[in-house]
Amino acid sequence: MDFRSDNVGAVAPEIMDAMMRANEGTAGAYGGDDLTQKLDDRFSELFGTEVRVFPALTGTAANAITLSALSPPYGSIFCGEHSHIATDECGAPELMTGGAKLMPIAGDNAKVPPDALAEAIARAGTGFVHCSQPAAFSLTQATEMGAIYSVDEVAKLADVAKQQGLAVHMDGARFANAVSTLGVHPGDLTWRAGVDALSFGATKNGAMAAEAIVLFRTDVADDLAFRHKRAGQLLSKMRFIAAQLLAYIDDGLWLDLAGRANGKAQRLTDGFAAMSGAKLEGTGEANEVFVTLPGPVIDGLKAAGAQFYGWPEPWEATNTIRLVTRWDTTDGEVDDVLAQTSALLAQS
Ligand SMILES: Cc1ncc(COP(=O)(O)O)c(C=O)c1O
Repeated sequence: MDFRSDNVGAVAPEIMDAMMRANEGTAGAYGGDDLTQKLDDRFSELFGTEVRVFPALTGTAANAITLSALSPPYGSIFCGEHSHIATDECGAPELMTGGAKLMPIAGDNAKVPPDALAEAIARAGTGFVHCSQPAAFSLTQATEMGAIYSVDEVAKLADVAKQQGLAVHMDGARFANAVSTLGVHPGDLTWRAGVDALSFGATKNGAMAAEAIVLFRTDVADDLAFRHKRAGQLLSKMRFIAAQLLAYIDDGLWLDLAGRANGKAQRLTDGFAAMSGAKLEGTGEANEVFVTLPGPVIDGLKAAGAQFYGWPEPWEATNTIRLVTRWDTTDGEVDDVLAQTSALLAQS
C-alpha cells in the first residue's frame, strides 16, 4: 500500500527493454547518437508541429532551464501558489534565471484563476524600474492537487498572459495523466492553446530518469542549448535518456501507463465516496486523491502499513492525506487501503 508518490514506482518493462537495446556498441556522445537525433522529429509528430527537444534528468532541471530561457534576470514569473517551481525546487528557477522573481497566485485545487492572473500582472509594475518585470506565466498540468486544466482553460490563461507579452510555460510532470483523462490531442492542450514551452514528464509515469523540455517556440532553442549544457543536463551518454523518451511516446505507451495510474485513482475515489466519515477533497481528475479522515483512522492506516503523506504535512493540522497512484499500483493495494479505512472508520 504505497501511495507516497508516483516516483516510488518501477520502470515500465518497455522502457527497460529500450534501454537494453540502446546498450549495444558505441554511439555518439552528448546527443550525437541516433536515438537523440530522432527526438525532434518524433516529438514534432506527436505534437503536430515543429518542436525542439532537450532531454533532462529531473523535472526541476527542465522547469528551471526552460524558465531561464523565457525570463530575464529581472523578470517576474507568475505561477500557482502550490506550484512545484515555487514550493519544491529549492530556488532552482530563481538560480537558473539569475534572480527572476516568482509571483505565486492562489486558486482552488492549485489552479490559477484567469482573473487573478490578470490582476496580478496588472499590479506588477510593468515599466516601473523598481519592480521585477512580468516575463512569464507557468501553469502545472495536472496541478499539484490533481486537478486538470481543460483546453479552454489553458487557452484563456495563455491569452491573459500573452496580452501582456508574457511567455507561457507548462510544468507537465503529470502531462500524460492530464491528456489521458481529457482524451485530447497533446497539441490542443499546449501550443494550439498558446503554450510556448512544456516540461514533459516521464519519470513519474514509468521512465527511469527522463524528462523532456519541449519547445514550441523554437526561436529560443539556440539560447536554451547553452543553458542546458551549463546546467549539467547535456549528458555524455544521452542515448539512454533518448531511448527512454522514444519508448515512452512510441505506440501511445505514455497514455497507456497514465491511464492505468488514473484508473487506480478513480477506484480509490469511488471507494472513499462510498464511505461515510471519509471526505474527498480536490477533483481527483488525475492520479492524486485527497481525502480527509478522522485522525485515529489515519494513525491506524499508518500502523497497518499504508504509506502516504499529509497534504500539507504534518497531516494533523487538517487530517487530509494525499494518495498518489502509479502505472504499477495494483488493485490489491487499492482494495487493501480501502478495506483498512472502512474497518477503521467502523471502529471510530
Ligand atoms: C508538479 C511537479 N513538477 C515537477 C516535478 C519534478 O520534480 P523532480 O525534480 O523531483 O523530478 C514534480 C515532482 O514531484 C512535480 O510534482
